[in-house]
Amino acid sequence: MSHILAIDQGTTSSRAILFDAGLAPVSMAQREFPQHFPRSGWVEHDPADIWRTTVETCRAAVEKAGLTAADVAAIGITNQRETVLLWDRESGEPLHRAIVWQDRRTAETCDRLRAAGHEAMIRARTGLLLDPYFSATKLAWLLDKVDGAREKAQAGRLAFGTVDSFLIWKLTGGKVHATDATNAARTMLYNIAEGRWDADILALFDIPESLLPEVRDCAADYGVTEILGAPVPILGVAGDQQAATLGQACFEPGMVKSTYGTGCFALVNTGDRMVPSEHRLLTTIAYQLDGKTTYALEGSIFIAGAVVQWLRDGLRMIDTADETQPLAEAADPHQQVYMVPAFTGLGAPYWDPKARGAIYGLTRATGPAEFARAALESVGYQTRDLMEAMAADMGGAGEAVLRDAKVATLRVDGGMTASDWTMQFLADILGAPVDRPQVRETTALGAAWLAGMRAGICPDQAGFAAGWALERRFEPAMAAQEREAKYAGWKEAVRRTLSS
Ligand code: G3P
Repeated sequence: MSHILAIDQGTTSSRAILFDAGLAPVSMAQREFPQHFPRSGWVEHDPADIWRTTVETCRAAVEKAGLTAADVAAIGITNQRETVLLWDRESGEPLHRAIVWQDRRTAETCDRLRAAGHEAMIRARTGLLLDPYFSATKLAWLLDKVDGAREKAQAGRLAFGTVDSFLIWKLTGGKVHATDATNAARTMLYNIAEGRWDADILALFDIPESLLPEVRDCAADYGVTEILGAPVPILGVAGDQQAATLGQACFEPGMVKSTYGTGCFALVNTGDRMVPSEHRLLTTIAYQLDGKTTYALEGSIFIAGAVVQWLRDGLRMIDTADETQPLAEAADPHQQVYMVPAFTGLGAPYWDPKARGAIYGLTRATGPAEFARAALESVGYQTRDLMEAMAADMGGAGEAVLRDAKVATLRVDGGMTASDWTMQFLADILGAPVDRPQVRETTALGAAWLAGMRAGICPDQAGFAAGWALERRFEPAMAAQEREAKYAGWKEAVRRTLSS
């Protein structure tokens, strides 16, 4: 019973990583699954794919390590957030494909709600902006559009969940319908100040409370699964960005991390203060431990790693993701090509669901190398947008908890951080050091730590933070004048891309 299995159910793949009690990764299994794009701006996942790839990877990771269920003390779950699933409590059958966080089908609903004056109330209670990104309008869409869904929901026959809840339900054979506070915080139905589902918001969307999972701490008892052939308890749950915040040991107010997966998400810990953003960031829950909530400000951008995936699968310019770095290095330094990857609209700080991607500065000499560089640079520019908003919020109106805490360094993780070129560009364009930790599987690490701590085999918060180790620091090397000129070019490219 000396290992912990972390499930990381992401947007484009499911992964399972087995950690030993010292929280060193021992084995890993990963399966990509199909993305469905039924219309422009719509993104769906087949729940059967989510479930199948989760089970397969869990079994494969344990098997690869030459271990069995008897060696696994606990399971931790972390997941793509906001994605909506709705299923029948009796049969366990989903009523529809999962509507993915990137999906923009409810943009008009959000416009209507904004015009009707609901944004301020939603903002104050959930910390979120009225954007299709979050679960509420997606769940309402399912209840409206799927035949008979509302009636079944009223009769208490359906269950709603984000991916964590769906997996917990499936893993426990329908015994547990629960979520954790961080995932609940992304639904736009959860009052993060009071720590409960918000009756007024539920009424606004006509969502019966019987649909909703029970909300628990991140380290808590989430039931037992037998998918490994013997019972193993599920003891940790957190949305992927919050799990990464834990994995990066960002436990002090002012500490900030940025994760580069499909999208890029930067979170700064704001302690026990729910800080309202004046610069269009989100106020959210960083984690909830022993009933105590720690808050964060979050900047969410929708396309980071996905831009490389698009070069590979959409444009077929490259065969594998790691070809982008040598291509970017070979790009013509005299060409200023900007790519604004607004494939599913723009997130923070612009929040423009109707914007679509654009590329500027093409000449007859532009080729795959310049495309690759522009794609990687877009990730740095978008992070700078977030850091500017964070710095402004933190310097702003009298939040004592943040006034003295500067965003001095950025802890980074996720697949794209493997590229030294991209990390150097990030440090250059931020004008701040970028710290890459030894364990880059930070999201899974956070989930494993939650479960391992609850199981009593991993250290407490202080012990875990003491174990965080730096692999490499990237220091900014670009001249300030060049940095600001490049960034001004990006701002201009975004301005031209916005829908209004
Ligand atoms: O909010 C969406 C986020 O949780 C998805 O993360 O890692 O799949 O880009 P990722």
